[in-house]
Amino acid sequence: MEKKLTDTVTWVGKTDWELVRFHGDEYSTHRGTSYNAYLVRDQKTVLVDTIWQPFDKEFVRSLRQVVDLHQIDAIVCNHAEIDHSGSLCELMREIPDTPIYCTSNGVKILKGHYHQNWHFVPVKTGDALDIGDQKLIFIEAPMLHWPDTMFTYLTGDNILFSNDGFGQHYASEMLYNDCVDQGELFAEAIKYYANILTPFSRQVTKKINDILALNLPVDMICPSHGIIWRDKPAQIIETYLKWAADYQENQITLVYDSMWGSTGTMAKAIARGIQQVDPETTVKLCNVARTDKNDIITEMFKSKAILVGSATINNGLLFSISGILEMMRGLKFKNKKAAAFGSYGWSGEAVKQISGLLSSAGFSVVNEGIRELWVPDESVEATCEAYGKAFAQSVRETET
Ligand code: FEO
Repeated sequence: MEKKLTDTVTWVGKTDWELVRFHGDEYSTHRGTSYNAYLVRDQKTVLVDTIWQPFDKEFVRSLRQVVDLHQIDAIVCNHAEIDHSGSLCELMREIPDTPIYCTSNGVKILKGHYHQNWHFVPVKTGDALDIGDQKLIFIEAPMLHWPDTMFTYLTGDNILFSNDGFGQHYASEMLYNDCVDQGELFAEAIKYYANILTPFSRQVTKKINDILALNLPVDMICPSHGIIWRDKPAQIIETYLKWAADYQENQITLVYDSMWGSTGTMAKAIARGIQQVDPETTVKLCNVARTDKNDIITEMFKSKAILVGSATINNGLLFSISGILEMMRGLKFKNKKAAAFGSYGWSGEAVKQISGLLSSAGFSVVNEGIRELWVPDESVEATCEAYGKAFAQSVRETET
């Protein structure tokens, strides 16, 4: 389906209302997604990105209704990941000699994916493609979030095609940020940042500052997923700068899993203790086995401190806790306090293991954690409450 953005630019992407998992099973998409591709028509016609491979035939069929494919003078591939390059094979069967503009890393990755010697034109930051009255200017953005990533800026219309940057997995028939529910939009934008871009926050800050230094007017930011930022597009740039600066809110999150409820009882008691010391602090509890993992990561992203709890099983951790700790390690969170807790029956290694994993994941572990034998009684719950108070106190002390 085509949707006209300006006299020059038409959206030719795909809205995927049914997607529930992305990146294999790594990312939940509660609100679907879209794969945004754009057709830029000046004296030359340029396609910016394609869409995911399962929809390649649909994409080429729809594109053919918008433009004679042989009138496409060039394709810009801002990012080689398959959700944006996946329709290239189907399209290039029709127009095999069309030049593909991408970074030199993009050439390598596209060849690695599709094993084709298409007419690649490697570009660097500042290179431009003259398309008539307007130009497309390329801006490399390595590791946002792949080595090949780049942005493309359209002069005249002042549009930044930012690919994954500023995107959201958010299906909507409404194209623009001012036409959708703001709570939903920002919930999906922060989830996207937390789960995908957190490890690259230093590069996010640098790239945004580089672009701001160019003083390019930006009337619209067109990402490759979700809605287009046309109403105050600077708002998402400013928000990204905040998120990239080791973002945190006044929140403490407890994530845990429990076999027979004892570690869960400890979690609730610790939470009560925290609230007694810090009633203003948002305290959230997430049972990792029963809560979406990407939603948990988003809650951690917002937190100033976290507590991770597991019962001990087979001298180690519950499966769900190992999984979330591995995600946390990879995301390289910074500026967050942490500690561990858990119940045990005899060997009781979990708390020490969690503390070690938190520390190697970059969290500041504030104490050796708390472990309790078998099922907590009232006095153990009181001990856990006291532990929660002490934890909140130590987080507060390091804030001042
Ligand atoms: Fe939406 Fe990195 O692909």
